[in-house]
Amino acid sequence: MKIHDISRRRFMEASAIASAAASLAKRTEGGAALEDDREPSEFFHVAPLRVVRVGFVGVGLQGTEHVKNLLSLDGVELRAVCDIAPEKVARAQALARDAGKQEPKGFTNGPRDFERLCAEEDLDLVYTATPWEWHVPVMLAAMKNGKHAATEVPAAQTVEDCWKLVETAEKEKKHCVLMENCCYDRPEMMVLHMLRKGLFGEAMHAEVGYQHDLRAIKFETRDEGLWRRAHATRLNGNLYPTHGLGPAAQAMGINRGDQFDYLVAMASPSRGLQDFQRERLPAEDLRRKETYVLGDVHTSMIKTHLGRTIYLVHDTNLPRPYARYNVFQGSKGIYSGFPPRFYFDAQEPAHRYKALSDFAAEWDHPLWTADRVKNAKNGHGGMDFLEDLRLMECLQQGLPTDFDVYDAAAWSCMVELTAKSAASRSKPVDLPDFTRGKWRSRPPLGIIGG
Ligand SMILES: NC(=O)c1ccc[n+]([C@@H]2O[C@H](COP(=O)([O-])OP(=O)(O)OC[C@H]3O[C@@H](n4cnc5c(N)ncnc54)[C@H](O)[C@@H]3O)[C@@H](O)[C@H]2O)c1
Repeated sequence: MKIHDISRRRFMEASAIASAAASLAKRTEGGAALEDDREPSEFFHVAPLRVVRVGFVGVGLQGTEHVKNLLSLDGVELRAVCDIAPEKVARAQALARDAGKQEPKGFTNGPRDFERLCAEEDLDLVYTATPWEWHVPVMLAAMKNGKHAATEVPAAQTVEDCWKLVETAEKEKKHCVLMENCCYDRPEMMVLHMLRKGLFGEAMHAEVGYQHDLRAIKFETRDEGLWRRAHATRLNGNLYPTHGLGPAAQAMGINRGDQFDYLVAMASPSRGLQDFQRERLPAEDLRRKETYVLGDVHTSMIKTHLGRTIYLVHDTNLPRPYARYNVFQGSKGIYSGFPPRFYFDAQEPAHRYKALSDFAAEWDHPLWTADRVKNAKNGHGGMDFLEDLRLMECLQQGLPTDFDVYDAAAWSCMVELTAKSAASRSKPVDLPDFTRGKWRSRPPLGIIGG
C-alpha cells in the first residue's frame, strides 16, 4: 500500500477525531482559522491593530534576530529599543535605518529602564529577549502599562511568577505570549497537521527535550556566558523546558481538552561544567571557584489528565550533537526526530521509518508552504520568522495568539517543579491548573489554514 493510500485510509478512520476539532474551528475564506466559538474576553481577543507599535527589551543575540524579523514585516513599527548595553541599542537602531525605517528611541539607563519604556512610550506590544530572570518583570511592567507582552523562553522560573503573569493578563486583558519558536518548526507543525487530519489516531505519548552542548557558550565572556551559567549554580531542575514541551503540549491539547496532572523528575550527577572549568580555564580564572548544582541530564515524566505521558529532558552540559528528541506517538503512528521520520500503521515496508521528505508534498503544514517562510534566513531556519509573523498577524487581525498566558505558565512552571521532584527522591508533584478548570471546555487550538 502506498503512503498516499495509507494517508487516505487513516483520514477516513480517524475522521471522528479530526471533525471534533474541526467543528470547533471556523475557517475564513483566506484559509486562516478562527476559533469563533471562543469567549473573546476569556482569550484576550482584542481589537485589530492596523499597525503594531513594538518596544523591544534585550537586543542581544536572539533579540537582534527578532528585531530583523520585525523590521521586515509590513504593518509593524519598531518604536523603542532597550538594553543595558548601549552598543546593542545602537546596533538595533542602525538595523532600522538600514531597513529604511524610522530609528527607534533608545533606552539604556540601566537594568530597570524598561519600566520607563513601558510607562512613557505609545506602544501596543513590549517584546523581551532578556536573560531569564528579567522576563517576568518586563512583562508585568508592559501589561500594567496597557501593553501586550511577549517573551523569549521560558516565560518564568517559579510557580508564583507564573500565577502573577496569569492574574495580570486576566486583569489587564492583555496578551501575554511565550514565543516558543520550536512550535513553528517544520516537523513539529507537520506533526500537528497530520494529527489533526487523523493520521496519528489518538495522541498517546511524546519524548521531548533540549539536548544541546552549551558548555562553551556558558563559559563565554559575552552574550549568554554573562548570565546562563549562573542558573546552573542555583537550581537542579529543567531550566529550559519549553522547546520540546511546547509542541508536545500543543499537539496533546494541553489547556484545551487535556491538562498536565503531575510529574516525577530525577537528575544525573553534575560533572560537565566542573570538568570544563578544570580542563579549559586558566588556573587563576575566578570561574573555577564556582560550584554547579544542575544535574547534567535532568529527566522528567509528565502525566496528563487523559492519561498521556511525556518524557522531558534537559541536557546541556555534556558532549553531544544537538537534538530535541521529538518523538510523538499516536495510536496509529509515530514521528521521530533527528533525523525527522515517520511510521504509520500498515506502512510498507513494515517496521521501517520513512523520511519526512516522503510525506512533505502532501502533509507539510500550510504555513510552511509559503516561500517567504521556506526561504527565511533569520534565526533557526524559518521558524523564528514564522513565529514573529504569526504574532504580528494575530495582533493585526485581532485574533487570539497561537499561545496564551495559560500556555506560558503551564510550560514554564516546569522549571521549579522538576527541581522540586528531583530534590525529593522523585516524589510526584502536582502540576497547577492555571486555567482553573477551563481546560475542560476550551476548544482546540486552530490549525491555521490546515
Ligand atoms: N528561542 C530560541 O531558540 C532562543 C535562542 C537563544 C536565546 N533564547 C532566549 O532569548 C533570551 C536572550 O538570550 P540571548 O541568547 O539573546 O542572550 P544575550 O545575552 O545575547 O542577550 C540578552 C540581552 O539582554 C540584555 N539585558 C540584560 N539585562 C537586561 C535588562 N535588565 N534590561 C534590558 N536589557 C537587558 C543584555 O545586555 C543582552 O543584550 C533568553 O531568554 C534565551 O533563553 C531563545
